[in-house]
Amino acid sequence: MERTLFIIKPDAVRRNHIGRILSFVEEAGMQVVAMRMVRLSADDARGFYHVHEGKDFYDTLAEYMSSGRCVVAVIEGDGVINRLRGVCGATDPSAATEGTIRATFGISLTMNSVHASDSPASAQEEVRFFFPDLD
Ligand code: CMP
Repeated sequence: MERTLFIIKPDAVRRNHIGRILSFVEEAGMQVVAMRMVRLSADDARGFYHVHEGKDFYDTLAEYMSSGRCVVAVIEGDGVINRLRGVCGATDPSAATEGTIRATFGISLTMNSVHASDSPASAQEEVRFFFPDLD
């Protein structure tokens, strides 16, 4: 069993897509084991995305992620780190395969509706960032 962190970003929360996006995850056989709504500060967002520090999109990303509420969730199941990334689709919605979350809901590279951890190490760090007390 693996766990990974999933975020429904402000563009999707604002447009009332929380339920439909969670359906993609659940219908793919993955389980939500923790979830809450958060409003990040720009500093929180910079901390969460620290691996991107120095990249040209870092400040835009931090500003965007703090522009409204996000839903943060821990997803559990066999191989969920890769499986959830598959369900999300390519980072850029215009390059995402039809039927994926980002192809369905994403607006742009920044407003791409969701985030999912990309490796076991980042999954562990990102789950801890939002759910430090999860068993
Ligand atoms: P996410 O999976 O949350 O991880 C980092 C985010 O940075 C990414 O989704 C995009 O929303 C955003 N981003 C903006 N520009 C780029 C870029 N050129 N390459 C990768 N990610 C980018």
